Formats: sequence, C-alpha cells, structure tokens
Amino acid sequence: MVTVTPFGTMPDGRPFSLYEISDGTAGGITVRVTDLGATITGIDAPDRSGTLTDVVLGFDEGNRYLDNAAAYFGATVGPSANRTLDGRVPVGGSVYQLPQNEGPNNLHTDPAQGLHAQLWSALADNDGVTFACAAADGACGLPGNRLFMVRYEVREATLRVTYRAVSDAETFINLTNHAYFNLAGEGSGSVLGHELELKARAFTPQDAAHIPTGEIRPVAGTPFDFTVPKALGKDIDANDEQISFGSGYDHNFCIDGFNAEATEPRVAAVLHDPVSGRTLTLATTLPGLQIYTGNFVGEEYGKNGHAYHGRESVALEPQYYPSNLARPGFEKAVFGPLKPYCAINEYRFSAR
Ligand code: GLA
Repeated sequence: MVTVTPFGTMPDGRPFSLYEISDGTAGGITVRVTDLGATITGIDAPDRSGTLTDVVLGFDEGNRYLDNAAAYFGATVGPSANRTLDGRVPVGGSVYQLPQNEGPNNLHTDPAQGLHAQLWSALADNDGVTFACAAADGACGLPGNRLFMVRYEVREATLRVTYRAVSDAETFINLTNHAYFNLAGEGSGSVLGHELELKARAFTPQDAAHIPTGEIRPVAGTPFDFTVPKALGKDIDANDEQISFGSGYDHNFCIDGFNAEATEPRVAAVLHDPVSGRTLTLATTLPGLQIYTGNFVGEEYGKNGHAYHGRESVALEPQYYPSNLARPGFEKAVFGPLKPYCAINEYRFSAR
C-alpha cells in the first residue's frame, strides 16, 4: 500500500511529495521516499520486541532536502557517485569533464545539478513507487540523452530497489543510494557499537585525496577486515594510514562474487545493533560497497529536533568502484544503447 502526502516545494514552485510504502504485514517495515532526488527519507523497522523505530537519518520538512548536498541524506546520487579522478571521464572516444568540486577531483557529480537535487516523475502502484528522471545530452557534464529510473518496492520486511538507465550514447553511470543508518533509531547516538559483517575479502586503498590508488588489497590483518562480524568502533581509530586518510571508515570494499550478468543480488553486508536486536542485511548486484561512518557529518539538525554528529550513523553505498575509469582492473561503469544500466539492492530487516 502506498499513501502520498505533500512534502515540499521546489524553488520554481513545483510541489514534491512523500510516499509511504508498506505491505501491511505484521513485523514488516514502512518505507518513506520522496520524488525530490528519489530520496529515502525514512524506514520504520521493528526491534526484537516488535517496536518500530525510524532507522534512517533525515529531515521532517521536505524543503530541508533541497539543501542536502553536504551529506546526501538518503539521496539517489548520480549520474556519477563518489570520486572521479580529475573529474575526467573518457568515454565513447571523447573526454568529458565533471566539475572539479573536491580539489581537482569530482565528488558526487554536482551539488546543485546531480540527480539527488532533481524533481523526479513518480508512478505509485500497490507495491511501491517508480521514479524517473531524464537528463539531456551534456547534462551533468556527461554524454547521452539519458533516462534514469528507480523503483522502491516493499515486501514484508524487505525494501527492494531497482535501478535502470538507458542512454542513446555511450556514457558513464555510477548510481548509489546514500542513506545513513542507525539501527537503534535516527538521532540515538553513536553507531560504534553496531556490528558489521562484510562479504569482502579486499578493499581499494586510497590516497590522501580519497582517490583509489588502483590497488586491490586483502583486508586480512587490517582494520578493514569485517569478514567476521566486528564492532564498527573496534578499529576505527587504529594507527593506520588508510584509517587516517578516511578519518575513520570512508572506503570502498570489493564485494565477493561480483558477476556482471547476475540478475539477483548477493549479500554484501550484515549490520547488527546488539542493543535493539535490529539487523540489516544488504544485498546488491553491484561490485563495490562504500562504507562511510559519517565522519564529516557536522552538527546537523535532523528529524524530531535530533542533532546528528559524526559516527552516529553509517552509510552503506553499493556502487561501482570509485574512479574506475582511471584504474585498470576496476569494472568500468560504462553503459550505452546496447548496454542499459541495471542494478538491484535489497535492504532486508530482521531482529535477533
Ligand atoms: C561519500 C563520501 C564521503 C562524503 C559523503 C557525503 O560517502 O565517501 O567522503 O563525501 O559521501 O558527505
């Protein structure tokens, strides 16, 4: 079931809405999304005694999302998520230039022009909502007349998100969702006690500007080893060059078992809050997962008047590896008329 309520107004006067999706199952989840940026604004998930709490950081007033680019709360980020070395995109025989908005590099396309800042078209049905957003050839610095689609669908305690994009020319597409989770409830304090398990035997080390060096490094023996569940806080302040480059965790992990032909997601991460018992299992068809412990979230006032700070949430961002065009050996996020973009992420909630 989907209910729609007014949520805010774009600077040009167009209204945007809040869509609440739930299938009504006892023990299920309720998901809220908005057509501004195809953004996830909330997920109510049960703890081990069935109590529902919103586990996603965000804002009560829709218009706060208009100025969301600093932290990208819940947003659909693209067409080019994460960092692109020198903002340089060699694709289809030409080189395109993304804005150099983080030193010489590009982060998340553009704060004002990116997909997170657009009003998407929406079509709601019984099980969910499909958002669509067009980008003309050259928009956001990238080639191709493109159509992006994101579908949010809820079945019991699972949110399934399907991304599709088509383009009439070869182009670069690396989408992600940037929801920040705190399984004890948004605004409830530190997440350093949450346990994380990653199906990742390797990660991509980065330089001081957060650009992957191209190395694929085994996690064994490093603070990045989450192959066995481990508290986020255990090694977050380890004396380690990579930890200091990220000011904590802000790194791409290489999720085991990537298969470009796969049509169903594989488990990438299991996040568990031992206090509430809430567990989030994230599955994806994508090759990488950026883990970001919100290290740069300054004091932000979010839902219910809660103040948010660093390390009080964790973003799990499925995506192609950052700067993949510049690094041999990284899967290339290049799509075009003969190769549409498709990705599926599932957020499966449970409690134990
Ligand atoms: C990603 C980046 C972070 C930060 C956030 C947005 O997670 O890796 O460094 O830029 O986006 O605030």
